[in-house]
Amino acid sequence: MSPSPKICVVGSSNIDLISKVPRLPKLGETMMGHAFHMGYGGKGANQAVMAAKLGAQVAMVTKSGNDVFGADTLKNYQAQGIDTTWVFFDEKAASGVAPIFVDDNAQNFIVIIPGANMALSPADVQKASSAITNASLLICQLEVPVESTLEAFRIANAAGVTTILNPAPAAPLPDELLQLSDIIAPNETETEQLTGLSVTTIEDAEKAARALLQRGPRTVILTLGERGALLVDATSVEHIAPIKVKAVDPTGAGDSFIGSLAVFLGEGLELRSAIRRANAVAALSVTTIGTQTSFPNRGEADEFWERVRD
Ligand code: RIB
Repeated sequence: MSPSPKICVVGSSNIDLISKVPRLPKLGETMMGHAFHMGYGGKGANQAVMAAKLGAQVAMVTKSGNDVFGADTLKNYQAQGIDTTWVFFDEKAASGVAPIFVDDNAQNFIVIIPGANMALSPADVQKASSAITNASLLICQLEVPVESTLEAFRIANAAGVTTILNPAPAAPLPDELLQLSDIIAPNETETEQLTGLSVTTIEDAEKAARALLQRGPRTVILTLGERGALLVDATSVEHIAPIKVKAVDPTGAGDSFIGSLAVFLGEGLELRSAIRRANAVAALSVTTIGTQTSFPNRGEADEFWERVRD
């Protein structure tokens, strides 16, 4: 594959409204927070920006509202060098927003109001089919209608483009989508919701990953937060150790993992090495507040990797 891989992301764009609080509030409670940070988010957008920051050629297929947040979102993609030909605007729905609370223990709580993201239709995805077929990898999540994600995966599959499904937030999935997924990369909670199995121990995680595999994807990468990741396919299982850091804000860490995984795979790394590199990028991203603002650029990511490898 290419040193500057072509990646297409079909997914969401949000504006993140992040409040730093001492602890997550109780029902009915009013509490003082420490800080507020507004920035660009949305799982699709985050994964696209992460890939662009590492040097990939990225095309984004998304829908925002025809409002100030939508205009800013477009500018942000342009500033990151992302191809915005397929950034659509909806005349009725507002841009997606995500109020987020992050406590002193670096635990977060995210609410998504998807707005225009839910107006990204299969017909929009069809319009963007050349962005998908020209890419070496397609990444999708579940913050846009599942039928639009399915359309994107059908187009990718017919063109031999590698598909990565990040099933976040978890939702019931058609079997066809799983069958069209080369890689599915859920976290523990999403895995529990998708399989109905609890994921407490590493052994539980393997069982749940195998249950997912039976529904059709070629490979499962179960991200385990501070415990690293579990790579499971039809013939093997491997636990990949985490990289320990002092976490400040985990928001977007999963997106940073997915976006960078796509880049390293696109650059030709084999899966296990790509996961290790992506783990390091995600670890670095949790050390500062913010979503995309906490994502390292290529120089920072490479320098960190040299310090933590082995
Ligand atoms: O994964 C983090 C993201 O989830 C945030 O940026 C928020 O917008 C939601 O989509």
